[in-house]
Amino acid sequence: MPIRLDERLTRIASLVDYGTVADIGCDHGKLGYYLIGTDRARAVIATDISEGSLKKARELARDNGVSDIMMTRQGDGLSPVADREADTVVIAGLGGDVISEILSGAAAEGKRFYHFVLSPNTHPEKVRRELIRQKYRIVYDDAVECGGKRYTVIKADEGEQILDELRILFGAFYDESESFERIAAQELEYKRSIISFHYDAELEKRIVLLETALNNVLKRRNA
Ligand SMILES: C[S@@+](CC[C@H](N)C(=O)[O-])C[C@H]1O[C@@H](n2cnc3c(N)ncnc32)[C@H](O)[C@@H]1O
Repeated sequence: MPIRLDERLTRIASLVDYGTVADIGCDHGKLGYYLIGTDRARAVIATDISEGSLKKARELARDNGVSDIMMTRQGDGLSPVADREADTVVIAGLGGDVISEILSGAAAEGKRFYHFVLSPNTHPEKVRRELIRQKYRIVYDDAVECGGKRYTVIKADEGEQILDELRILFGAFYDESESFERIAAQELEYKRSIISFHYDAELEKRIVLLETALNNVLKRRNA
C-alpha cells in the first residue's frame, strides 16, 4: 500500500540517506513504512514508549508484509536501540526537553549514531545545545510549515561545531533561512507592542536578540 506523508514528515524523510533507521516515538509508524517503501532505508527499528502507539506501527508493518525489515520495539528513548545499531536516528513530534533528555540518556550509556534527524515541537534551542555538547554538528536546520503550524527540522552528523547563542536560539543557519526573517519580524513587532505598555526584562532581552539576528540577516544580504 503506497503511503503519503504530510509536509513535515516528507521533509524529515528527505533528510534520511540510507541504511538502518531508528524512528523513536514512531506512533503510527508511517515514517518508517514510507522510508522502506521508497528505498530510503534498508531496515527500520520503530520504537515507542507506549505499547498502544507501537501496536499501530506493528500492524502497519504486518498488514503490508514488511515486518521482517520494519522491527517494532517498546521502550523509553534510545534504550531499545544499541550503539551504532542504526545509521540514522529520527526523533520527531516530541518536545525539545524530551528529545534532549533522550540524547543525553543515550550518551550516558555510551551510545553513538552517525546521523540524527530531529524535529522538536518545542524548545529547539535545547536540542541544538545538546547536539553540540555531544559533538554532533548541525548540517541542516530549517522550519517547515504544515497544517498552519511551523516545525523545526534539524539534521546532525558526527563532528564538532561551535554555534553562537543566536544560532542556538534561532537555528544554525537562521541568517540564510527564507522564513526566519518574516517570522522574526512578526515576533519582534508583537513583543514591542507588549513591552510598550508592560515592561519586562526577559521580554526586552528577547527583543534585543531578535533585533540583532534581523540585523545580521540584513548584513549578510548586503555583503
Ligand atoms: C506526537 S507522537 C509523534 C509521532 C511521530 N514521531 C510523528 O512525528 O508523527 C509522539 C509519540 O512519542 C511517544 N513517546 C513519548 N515519549 C517517548 C519516549 N521517551 N520514548 C519513546 N517514545 C516516546 C508517544 O507515545 C507518541 O507515540
